[in-house]
Amino acid sequence: MVSMKTQTAQVDAITNEDRYQLATYKKMPVVAERGEGVWIYSSTGERFLDLYGGHAVAGTGHCHPHVVAAIRAQTEKLLFYSNLVYSETRARAAEKLVSIAPAALAKAFFCNSGTEANENAMRMARMTTGRENVITFSGGFHGRTADAISATFLGKYREIGRPNVPGHLQAEFGDIDSARAIADQSVAAIVLEPIQSMAGVRMAEVSFYRGLRELCDERGIVLIYDEVQTGVGRTGEWFFAGSDAGDRVVPDIITLAKALGSGIPVGACLVSEEIASHIKENDLGTTFGGGMIAMAAVTATLEAIENDGMLANVREVEAYLRERLKEFEPMVSVRGRGFLLGIEFADKAKPIHEALLEQKIIAGTSSDPNVLRLLPPLCLKREEVDFFVEALALVLNTK
Ligand SMILES: Cc1ncc(COP(=O)(O)O)c(C=O)c1O
Repeated sequence: MVSMKTQTAQVDAITNEDRYQLATYKKMPVVAERGEGVWIYSSTGERFLDLYGGHAVAGTGHCHPHVVAAIRAQTEKLLFYSNLVYSETRARAAEKLVSIAPAALAKAFFCNSGTEANENAMRMARMTTGRENVITFSGGFHGRTADAISATFLGKYREIGRPNVPGHLQAEFGDIDSARAIADQSVAAIVLEPIQSMAGVRMAEVSFYRGLRELCDERGIVLIYDEVQTGVGRTGEWFFAGSDAGDRVVPDIITLAKALGSGIPVGACLVSEEIASHIKENDLGTTFGGGMIAMAAVTATLEAIENDGMLANVREVEAYLRERLKEFEPMVSVRGRGFLLGIEFADKAKPIHEALLEQKIIAGTSSDPNVLRLLPPLCLKREEVDFFVEALALVLNTK
């Protein structure tokens, strides 16, 4: 039984947020109180299977004990000091992150979010090349600050971000010729989400990634992978960069955020020595980037993924999920990689999203109205897949 007091507290959270917080996203009627692994518990004691991870952030799952312990221990030592001093906690995080990155990416820059990582990556490309223009792709999403939103040719975002930063050019995702046609001597960088998540989990042919690498090498352009979603284990590899799925292509810069701190805000750019050689003191900076709480969270997040064998788990459970979803063919088809999956329905996904919530499952939508997006914690297990598939069968009326 849910007590009157608890019920009142829930109503207050919804009413008060709606009254006192500016509108952002359309919210689900769930008051999240605590989380454990792949589960979120509401203030009324309901339990939800979280296949969305709070916008792909809960990579290690909610409140992973190793991450919580590391954050707690750091809070008792030093909450923050900026990059004006050295810190063992920061040194450890940078070393750990570089150690799992493709060998060519030798240095890290820490900031606070994905959009900031992309802004700094584009800035580094301009500093490296002495050029200004940036090519991004139809359907890509790169953030909401001025330069990043101007690089976002998805839906209405550039319109929201007007006036746009000049020098942003658009090519067609998956079409190397469209990039070749505009990649002239004015272009500093080509930026892409190697798997376009918000656009409905779109992948390109493998030859596209190799083609971009060759194009950038040929014309002295910096290749940037926005791995804000695909990074930190989501595809079953540490990064899409360097993986077989992308023909082992390694860009000059990878940008990261989301799952990197298990919920503590942190972003990063991983860059090659060549890029690093063009960056001088004071070219980049941020007060909070590299702060100790975030750095403790980064190291613990990467260790938790390693210690718990989460990369192998993603690959194994992805295969199981795909197998189980075959039960619904031809009604649905699945795309993406690892735990970045788009389930495409013949019709609108929104009613399915809502019906799943009634079955206590949180999933995501995308800008493709027919695609339901799954971005679960990397520790999702087979029995939780079964729970989802049973619920989906009910919702689709196949049972
Ligand atoms: C691929 C990609 N890049 C960049 C961003 C921006 O990240 P943030 O919201 O942390 O600024 C997002 C956010 O959804 C994203 O999905």
